[in-house]
Amino acid sequence: MTKETTLLIGGVMVDSTPIDGQRVTLSAKSLNRHGLISGATGTGKTKSLQVLIEELSGIGVPSLVMDIKGDISGLGAKGSTNKIIEKRAHHIQMDWIGKGFPIEFMSISEEPGVSLKSTISEFGPVILSKILSLNDTQTSLLSILFLFCDDKKLPLLDLDDLKTVLRYAAGEGKSEIQKTYGLVPINSAHAVMRRITQLEQQGGNRIFGEPSFDVDDLCKTDENGLGMVNIIRLTDVQSKPALFSAFMMALLAEVFEVFPEKGDVDKPELMIFIDEAHLIFKNASKELLNQLDTIIKLIRSKGIGVVFITQTPDDIPENILSQLGFKIQHALRAFTAKDRKAIKLLSQNFPESDVYDVENLITELGIGEALISSLDRKGRPTPLVHSLMRPPYSRMDILESVEIKTIIKDSKLIAKYNKELDRESAHEILMERIEQMLEKDEEDKEEKNRRKARPRTKRREKNQFEKIMSSSIGTTIVRELTRGILGVFGISTSTRRRKR
Ligand SMILES: Nc1ncnc2c1ncn2[C@@H]1O[C@H](COP(=O)(O)OP(=O)(O)OP(=O)(O)O)[C@@H](O)[C@H]1O
Ligand SMILES: [Mg+2]
Repeated sequence: MTKETTLLIGGVMVDSTPIDGQRVTLSAKSLNRHGLISGATGTGKTKSLQVLIEELSGIGVPSLVMDIKGDISGLGAKGSTNKIIEKRAHHIQMDWIGKGFPIEFMSISEEPGVSLKSTISEFGPVILSKILSLNDTQTSLLSILFLFCDDKKLPLLDLDDLKTVLRYAAGEGKSEIQKTYGLVPINSAHAVMRRITQLEQQGGNRIFGEPSFDVDDLCKTDENGLGMVNIIRLTDVQSKPALFSAFMMALLAEVFEVFPEKGDVDKPELMIFIDEAHLIFKNASKELLNQLDTIIKLIRSKGIGVVFITQTPDDIPENILSQLGFKIQHALRAFTAKDRKAIKLLSQNFPESDVYDVENLITELGIGEALISSLDRKGRPTPLVHSLMRPPYSRMDILESVEIKTIIKDSKLIAKYNKELDRESAHEILMERIEQMLEKDEEDKEEKNRRKARPRTKRREKNQFEKIMSSSIGTTIVRELTRGILGVFGISTSTRRRKR
């Protein structure tokens, strides 16, 4: 029989006293059954997360961490010891050695790091509809547009492409599209456009486009066999829940699609940690929640575990909470009668224990202590244990900006992904088509004028903008183009123009 791989996370405590040498471990095999780290502020959640990631990296399992507060970069540098660490290490009877772990910074925003993007085509109409919270009619319209673009070989790469196709479908191309694919309801087209604009306002442009991120690159180990710690710095995304949910949905869907079925694995292929998880759930539509529920159920067999980190388990919808195999519960504070009621309810969800009075213990846990319930390698619940969490080997503070710069400078993935690609896509091709129509329109007019045989006056050269304004082309397109040129659709339009 092969030896079971376990993660050392702490030492056993009984009556709030450490039992020297009795260790608390998690079975690596059960981690794809997902987990939860929760507790009031300052009780030790982030350090427990750090410990888990270190243990995973040590057995060659990579992690992907949504770092909302920017406080886990310390994983990249070795920690220094102190009295508290020595005391904990002594109780647990572990060798504590300061060490750092291999880090890759990733980004969907202004933060520096490997740019994580996918093309609109890769998202597909179904996921995209969910991200944009579209209704059935709007979803059908999107599906029609994807089909049209497929048939006409119009690559849908970024939001500009999608918007241009939408404008085309609502104006110029309406009859062409309706002839083959079905009705194009103008109201729906406008509604979809509004949703896209909302996502753009939260920085949605940054998650769509090329080069498209290959999720296999999340599953690397370094030259010493340590699992890579991929940190997505999201400090500037806190106020943009729509973007965050869209990104999470897209990522999980992509991972689910790309990763092969693994069945029973001895250790996970990848662990995904979502800090401040309530941000995903707070403004998520029902559709999004259902989708998340399904993906979390199915992703398990691909060897991927998802861990939510949040202040109280109440932040997680019941159907998702019930799927989480292990729970690291730090202290909760009972300030009000409502708090006490919630804690009572919560304590009933833990496995029954002869050793611990769960309801009282939850409020009395010290900092860096937790109640742990998990599953063994066969998926059976293990007895509840009060754990003194082991101290992290890496730094319990953030990296300095020069340390971050060095990691970014040395990243091979940044060299691979952080470059501008200039592929001709739906936007360019359709704009060209419209331009040709405009030119033809212009020629027809000139021809008409010539035929009138009046003495010719010198025609004023019109610039592109005036040409569009005075043409007979559909008003929707004219209006949208004008808005683009005048900057309402702003930066993206002008960037693309520069690129061409
Ligand atoms: N396992 C541990 N070993 C040693 N010290 C710890 C441990 N866990 C927590 N601590 C101490 O407690 C402090 C707070 O822990 P941490 O930052 O993990 O709390 P948190 O629950 O993430 O707080 P917040 O909700 O504010 O993010 C740490 O800075 C550290 O000093
Ligand atoms: Mg924290």
